[in-house]
Amino acid sequence: MIIAVDGSAGSGKSTVAKLIASELDYLYIDTGAMYRAVTFTWLKIQELVPNFNFKDKLIPDKEIRRKILSEILGKHHEKALDLICQTISISFENSDSGIKTFINDIDVSDYIRSTLVTQNVSHVASYKEVRDYLVSEQRKIAEGTNIIMDGRDIGTVVFPNANLKIFLTASVEVRAKRRMQDLSNYGEETSFEEICAQLKRRDHLDSTREESPLTKAEDAVEIDTDGLSIVEVKDKILSFIN
Ligand code: CDP
Repeated sequence: MIIAVDGSAGSGKSTVAKLIASELDYLYIDTGAMYRAVTFTWLKIQELVPNFNFKDKLIPDKEIRRKILSEILGKHHEKALDLICQTISISFENSDSGIKTFINDIDVSDYIRSTLVTQNVSHVASYKEVRDYLVSEQRKIAEGTNIIMDGRDIGTVVFPNANLKIFLTASVEVRAKRRMQDLSNYGEETSFEEICAQLKRRDHLDSTREESPLTKAEDAVEIDTDGLSIVEVKDKILSFIN
């Protein structure tokens, strides 16, 4: 059984998908974390991420690192990103403090949630090379298992035949409030206005890109989550599954 959950930034996808996965004992995959991991590596190769000491472990081969950097300097980002995707290995692991994201064997869970990564991820996610690679990884992960996967293109591109497709929406104000809470959990303080502006910018980039834009699949069930608690959204989705 495959459950696809799509929606814009802050619509509550990952929180609700995690709850459903644990209630049904399904595998949960956060595809946004995969796009964030590629973005983090791309930024780190350019020395744009402070306070991270494992750069060489992300791409251990010095020659490949040099090649990626030279493609970036030549503004051939598609080639650089293609090389990054072919070289790194992204994986997830359950831990007491939640699901951790790894690049090779390095825990990058907190780094990939930084504002710098958030500001750059929609750009990186617009490249066909990145999307083709990650979509094929996502399909491999789902083989032969019950899974709930969240993202932007799960019901439209990754699993057009998913058993259930959910499309979550919420107003920008509600989403910004939720995002402010997430960020303060990571120790980052950003103003409400700034978060609203960032969300709108990302929504725009995600919905207007050429490759797999964020859009509701025709057969998806749309749930407006304004005014609904996470548990209410979860119960609604469970009622469709049942
Ligand atoms: O958690 P949040 O809503 O901030 O976003 P996310 O799920 O972590 O996704 C980060 C970004 O990755 C999105 O804004 C998209 O640009 C991209 N993404 C995508 O293009 N396709 C997906 N299936 C998942 C994420």
